[in-house]
Amino acid sequence: MPSSPDPHEADDASLPDTMLAAVTTHHGGLDAIDVRCVPRPQPGPGEVLVRVLAAGCNNTDLWTREGSYGSGSGPDAKAGWLGPLDFPRIQGGDVVGRVAAAGDPDGRGLLGTRVLVDPALYDDDSPDARPADVLGSERDGGFAEYVVAPLARVHDVGDSPLSDEQLASLPIAYGTALGMLERGGAADGDTVAVTGASGGVGLAAVQLASARGARVVAVCSGSKSDAVRAAGADVVVDRTRGSVVEDLARAAPDGYDVVVDVVAGPTLEAGLDLLRPGGRWVVAGALDGWEVRLDVRRLYLANVSLVGSTMHSPRIFDLLVDLARKGAVRPVVAATYALADVAKAQRVLAQRAHVGKLVVVP
Ligand SMILES: NC(=O)c1ccc[n+]([C@@H]2O[C@H](COP(=O)([O-])OP(=O)(O)OC[C@H]3O[C@@H](n4cnc5c(N)ncnc54)[C@H](OP(=O)(O)O)[C@@H]3O)[C@@H](O)[C@H]2O)c1
Repeated sequence: MPSSPDPHEADDASLPDTMLAAVTTHHGGLDAIDVRCVPRPQPGPGEVLVRVLAAGCNNTDLWTREGSYGSGSGPDAKAGWLGPLDFPRIQGGDVVGRVAAAGDPDGRGLLGTRVLVDPALYDDDSPDARPADVLGSERDGGFAEYVVAPLARVHDVGDSPLSDEQLASLPIAYGTALGMLERGGAADGDTVAVTGASGGVGLAAVQLASARGARVVAVCSGSKSDAVRAAGADVVVDRTRGSVVEDLARAAPDGYDVVVDVVAGPTLEAGLDLLRPGGRWVVAGALDGWEVRLDVRRLYLANVSLVGSTMHSPRIFDLLVDLARKGAVRPVVAATYALADVAKAQRVLAQRAHVGKLVVVP
C-alpha cells in the first residue's frame, strides 16, 4: 500500500533501547542464526535510523553465512564476498522501512517517511561507482527491528504503489538484474536469454527485459515454467531435460544479443556460441560452477563480450527507485516470514522450490 509520512514516527525518547534481531554468530549452518535482543543501533552524523517494515532474503545471505565466497588465499577459504567477516553480524541487505530518527538535522526532513535503502556504499562518488561495502555483510542489516543507514543511501518511496514486501524484494535482486541488462546493453527488440530464471535475480531479469521490449528465453526447472512465463518469458527452456544449450539454440536460431547468466558452469562453457556476433554474455553468479574452461577464439573471432556484473551502481539504483515509484515493475513475493523465522526462510531459500522472493516482516 502507498503510504505518507507517519507523524507519530519521531526521534524521541520513546524509541526502545533494545530490539529483536536475527544475529549470525559465525560462518556455518542455520544454527549460526540466533534470534535475540540486542542494543538498538544509534544513527551518527549523516545517518538515519530506519524502523524495518520488510527485509528481502537473497542467495548472498546463504553464501555469506556459510562463508562460501572463497578468497585470494584459496577458493575454499571461509569468507564473505569482500573477505573476512566480522561477527556477530545481522544480515539482510534489502530493506524498506520508515525513518524513525536522524543523527543530525539534515535527516529530520525524512522522519516518518517510507524509504528504500540502497544496500551499497560505493568505492567513489561517480554515478557508475562499484559497491565496496554492503548492508548485512560489512554492516548490520535488516533482519532486525531497526537498522542504521547513511542519509545519502535512503530513497523516499512513500508514493510508490508497491507494498512493503514488494519494495523489499527490489534492491539486490532487481538491482543486480537491472545492472546486468544495463551492462549488457539489452534493448527493445533484442533476444535475451536468462538462466536461473525462476530465482530472485532471474525472475527480475525476465520482468525487466520483457518490459524493455526484448524477446525473453528463460531457463528454469519445468515445474516453475508457468510462473516464469507469467513474469514475461516468451519461451521457457526446462533445464531438467538436460539439454539447455541445445534447447536455447532451438529457441533462437539467429542467436542471442544478451545472455543474463547467474548459473555459469557447463552452460557458459558450451553456450558462448549462442551469442550473435557482437553479443554480450553477462555473468553475475555461478550456481552451477565457477570454474569454467573457455575457448577464447570464440570470444575474439565473433567480437562477443564476456561481462562480469556485480550488483548495481548509484545510477542503476536511481533507475530502480524510479521504476519503484512508478510501480513499473511488480516483484513476485513467494512467501513472508516473521523475524523469529529467518533461519526457516533461509532453509526454504536453499531448497529453491519457490518462485520469486522470500521476505522477512519484523
Ligand atoms: N554478483 C552479484 O551482484 C549477485 C547478486 C545477487 C545474486 N548473485 C548470485 O546469483 C545467483 C542467483 O541468485 P538468486 O538470489 O537469484 O538465487 P535463487 O533465488 O536461489 O535462484 C536461483 C535459481 O537458479 C536455479 N538453479 C539453482 N541451482 C542451479 C544449477 N546448479 N544449475 C542451474 N540452475 C540452478 C534454480 O531454479 P530452477 O530450479 O527453476 O532452475 C533457482 O531457483 C547466486 O549465485 C547468487 O549468489 C550475484
